[in-house]
Amino acid sequence: MKSPIQSYLESLHAELSSLRSGEVASYIPELTKADPDWFGICVVTVDGVAYTAGDTAQRFTIQSVSKPFVYATALADKGRDFVGRRVGVEPSGDAFNSISLHPRTGAPLNPMINAGAIASAGMAAGTTAEQQWERIADSLGVFMGRPITLDEAVYRSESDTGFRNRAIAWMLKNFGIIDGDPMAVLENYFRQCSVLVDCRDLAYMAATLANGGVHPLTGRRALPAPDVERVLSVMATCGMYDYAGSWLYEVGLPAKSGVGGGIIAVLPGRFGIAICSPPLDEKGNSVRGIEVCKRLSRDFGLHLF
Ligand code: DON
Repeated sequence: MKSPIQSYLESLHAELSSLRSGEVASYIPELTKADPDWFGICVVTVDGVAYTAGDTAQRFTIQSVSKPFVYATALADKGRDFVGRRVGVEPSGDAFNSISLHPRTGAPLNPMINAGAIASAGMAAGTTAEQQWERIADSLGVFMGRPITLDEAVYRSESDTGFRNRAIAWMLKNFGIIDGDPMAVLENYFRQCSVLVDCRDLAYMAATLANGGVHPLTGRRALPAPDVERVLSVMATCGMYDYAGSWLYEVGLPAKSGVGGGIIAVLPGRFGIAICSPPLDEKGNSVRGIEVCKRLSRDFGLHLF
């Protein structure tokens, strides 16, 4: 017999499948190949049980959902003080690609906007960009519970067209926020955005944060316990960009979205939630993803406050 949560997710999925607004991201040409009908919901509990509805095995690129996990990697590798000098924790209320840097220090306002995420990628352990990529890839794999793979076509497409991110990376170099070659750091950022995931992978990553930093199935620690609250805090205040305030008000959970159509949300100590649905609203957040989270929060009283 189906559990009540399984039946609930299936009927929510069926209901929201008919929600047809939003556009698939097109500013990275290769992303237009996503099917607007892909729609998956997955909830993973801290003891590793997964509840799924819809296209939860469909692969897509992680995009900005990678940002909290790479920020976590920077915190683990360089420590809170070092990272805090190079990336702030203030919501910018700006779009994901805004050049929101502190006017005096040049530090990006937070690690969820591109500027802060590129800076975070540059703080992964390693003395060369290649070593830093190995560290980022390994860390994302521990969060996911399996080795990562890239969508090479999306990576090339973003690298070929990411001129604004190039400008941001050079600004960061100008302020001494990036050591070494900013273009090599940026390529690692493009790679982290091109990591292939399915909805289950994202839900396990979210559940790892819910579980105090330990993957619920592998038992491996993905980040030191004190860093979990830091990562969840910036997800709560900055994870949904210029929708972050409304999100926290209405859904009340730390979260992160990506232009591939993924959203994760975390209920600490209980479970991780992931949705995949590529059509985005004008702020770059998955339309169905937001709706699923609003409904789960309301129907189960998940709002943290
Ligand atoms: O920096 C970029 O343009 C992308 N690779 C990632 C952006 C992203 O997912 C923003 N999120 N909504």
